[in-house]
Formats: sequence, C-alpha cells, structure tokens
Amino acid sequence: MKPAEPTQRQAPPARQHQMALFARNFFKHPKMLGSIIPSSRFLVRRMLNHIDWQRTRVLVEYGPGVGTFTREILRQMPADAALIVIETNEDFVDYIQRVYPDPRMQVVHGSAADIEQILAERDLGQVDYVIAGIPFSTLPGHVGESILNATRKVISPAGTFLLYQFSPRLLPTLHRTFSKVSREFEPINFLPAHFYRCKP
Ligand SMILES: C[S@@+](CC[C@H](N)C(=O)[O-])C[C@H]1O[C@@H](n2cnc3c(N)ncnc32)[C@H](O)[C@@H]1O
Repeated sequence: MKPAEPTQRQAPPARQHQMALFARNFFKHPKMLGSIIPSSRFLVRRMLNHIDWQRTRVLVEYGPGVGTFTREILRQMPADAALIVIETNEDFVDYIQRVYPDPRMQVVHGSAADIEQILAERDLGQVDYVIAGIPFSTLPGHVGESILNATRKVISPAGTFLLYQFSPRLLPTLHRTFSKVSREFEPINFLPAHFYRCKP
C-alpha cells in the first residue's frame, strides 16, 4: 500500500470560513453532525493511508461536511476514478460544489441510506472504498443500520468501508454486519476518534 503524503494545511482564511460554516450547522443540526468542528488532518491521514489508490476506480464519501476528507481524496485519487459524495445538508452540498469543482466528483444532495439507488442511477457497479464521517449512533430510528446494510451490499469483495465514530458504541453492530472489522484510535482530533475498517 502506497503511504499517503502528508495532508496539507489550508490557508487561514479558508480554514476559518470552514470552521464557522461547520459550527453554525452544528447548532442547527447537532445530531446530524455529531461534532462542532471538522476532523483533524491526523484523522484524515490515518484513514486515507489505508487506501490503495492505484487500484481505486469508484469511491463514495458519506457526510463530507466542508470537505475535510474530500479535498484529500481528490488530491490523491487517480485521474480516471470516480468519487460520489453524499450529503444531507444543503449548505455543505453548495459549499463542496463551489470550492472543490472537479469532473471526477459527483455531489449528491441526499442520504447515504439511498446508496444503492444513487449508484444504480449512475450505472456504477461495486465500490472500492466507502469513507464515512456520519454520526451513526445519533441518527434517527434505524437509519444507521439501513446505511450499514446497504453499504455492505455495494462494496466489492476486495473493497473496504472506512469510518470513524466518537464512541465505540457502534462496534457490535459493525461486527454483526461485516465479515471482518479492524480498529484503530486517533487521539489528535476533537473528539478523539475510533476508526474502523470493515470488510463486506
Ligand atoms: C461529523 S460531520 C463530518 C464532516 C466531515 N466528514 C469531517 O470529518 O470533518 C457529519 C456529516 O454527515 C452528514 N450526514 C449526517 N447524516 C447523513 C446521511 N444520512 N447521509 C449523508 N450525510 C449525512 C452531516 O450533514 C455532516 O456533514
């Protein structure tokens, strides 16, 4: 696996704007965001280091927020790969489309629960990697479990589901849903994050 190059720091004005947009939306939808600030570059690097970019053709990101992972994915993914980004929050959809225009990326304003339909509408087959930053434990009803089940179905046999959470509460559900689950922990993040790699 090729190690990722160090995640770049952003210019202060862009970073401040992102922080403000993210915090404003946290106060509007705390359960959908789960955190008041975007992920740290340490967490982004830890997760994306597990991607074998050379063999990646289709990637999906759930809940990009202000694009903390998206920006790095676009920087590292191959020229002929496709990235589908799914986000429920319209402010973030508008922001991502405006700030990171890229012909390899399609931004969908919708829920990760509809991943199967979203891929079918685009004639995309199975996915190499799904990267998720959504707060599964605080999502309403059975939305979290529906997303996990649908995700297992769309990932190719050699593919991986990469996700982080702020508590280990989701672990039993991950074990029930996926054939193999590996765990790591990233302390340099607000909040410190549990990171999981799941095989379909
Ligand atoms: C903790 S934020 C993560 C933002 C970014 N990935 C990061 O790590 O900084 C969670 C994001 O998931 C989005 N979200 C929540 N439920 C979702 C769903 N069912 N489908 C897609 N996005 C969702 C929220 O709007 C929010 O942008």
